[in-house]
Amino acid sequence: MNAPVKIAVVGAGLIGKRHIEAIAASGSEAMVHSITDPDPARSAIARQLDVPYFQTLQAMVSNSAPDGVIVATPNRFHLEDTLYCISKGIPVLVEKPLAVTAEEGLKIVIASEEKGVPVLVGHHRRHNPLVQRAKAEIEAGSIGQVVSVHATCWLYKPDDYFNVTWRRQTGGGPIYINLIHDIDLLQHFCGPVETVMAMQANTARSHEVEDTAVITLRFENGALGTVNLSDTIVAPWSWELTARENPAYPVTGQATYWIGGTNGSLEMPTMRIWHQQNTRSWWEPIDARHVPVRSTDPIEAQIKHFSAVISGDKQPLVPARAGWQALRTIEAVKRSAESGSTVNIAI
Ligand SMILES: NC(=O)c1ccc[n+]([C@@H]2O[C@H](COP(=O)([O-])OP(=O)(O)OC[C@H]3O[C@@H](n4cnc5c(N)ncnc54)[C@H](O)[C@@H]3O)[C@@H](O)[C@H]2O)c1
Repeated sequence: MNAPVKIAVVGAGLIGKRHIEAIAASGSEAMVHSITDPDPARSAIARQLDVPYFQTLQAMVSNSAPDGVIVATPNRFHLEDTLYCISKGIPVLVEKPLAVTAEEGLKIVIASEEKGVPVLVGHHRRHNPLVQRAKAEIEAGSIGQVVSVHATCWLYKPDDYFNVTWRRQTGGGPIYINLIHDIDLLQHFCGPVETVMAMQANTARSHEVEDTAVITLRFENGALGTVNLSDTIVAPWSWELTARENPAYPVTGQATYWIGGTNGSLEMPTMRIWHQQNTRSWWEPIDARHVPVRSTDPIEAQIKHFSAVISGDKQPLVPARAGWQALRTIEAVKRSAESGSTVNIAI
């Protein structure tokens, strides 16, 4: 049996702590190498785990290089921290978004690909068995040619969530925080987005940032898509409240994605595939078959995968290029919503 890989956690905040728990849950595959965080209060986490504590990434790496690094710092540090790890040849799991802008993100893509140092982006939903089964069903032709997709992301962030200034300002809203996950999945199912048209509103909360947006997409393969997004609607239809990924959220048992093909359609995460037995026609009966999938914690699955990436056994499931693809699509959504124009991503 191989020795556990030593993973350094840089940024021990909300998501950093979930990564620490996931490393502990991985058993003998991984262990926490150290905690790095400029906030001295986070040293208590290192003491509890009996691992070294550092205030900077550079100090941590020069003390004793880990096998891999999780960059769970605020977005503005992702570029610098990830490029530093790549320069030292250390594989990285960087939280989403890959960087603050697509231009910055591309620097990470180029550095990772040129130096051959793997970068895994924290779009953890991709590690969910539901997503992997849906992708397999689509690739096996279960619903025929994908023609159109729709995603609803309606949820209500409690009013005190907005006590933090940056969450009321441009960049802190549901387009950058939530939609990026949905866009990553829709591109995973349908391939790259080519064109975007979007509208946004801040009518309900009247903050500078958007609270609601509607987005239409054209994928390079010709499929179309729509996403309806809001963090100010009380509703049961969002990945967060349906996919059972984070026990902190209540579960509603509803669907939130609909993927439509020429032979059937797939609703997720309820995993029902709608078909017609004999003739495809709106006059004929239509039935659903349930695809049973056992849900597992995708953050834990992501750590197991990262351990395999560090060991050289696997290539990143979500490489830097995929994280960049999601980020540039989100930028296009924002550009379209602000300008009122259609944005062609390829240009
Ligand atoms: N995958 C997901 O679903 C998910 C969920 C939440 C957050 N995130 C992402 O994770 C990142 C962190 O978000 P969060 O909610 O955990 O934030 P947070 O504010 O709770 O934690 C960030 C931590 O980083 C520390 N930090 C700040 N500057 C640092 C530096 N230079 N070096 C090391 N540590 C530093 C802070 O002191 C803090 O402890 C963001 O990029 C966010 O988008 C992803």
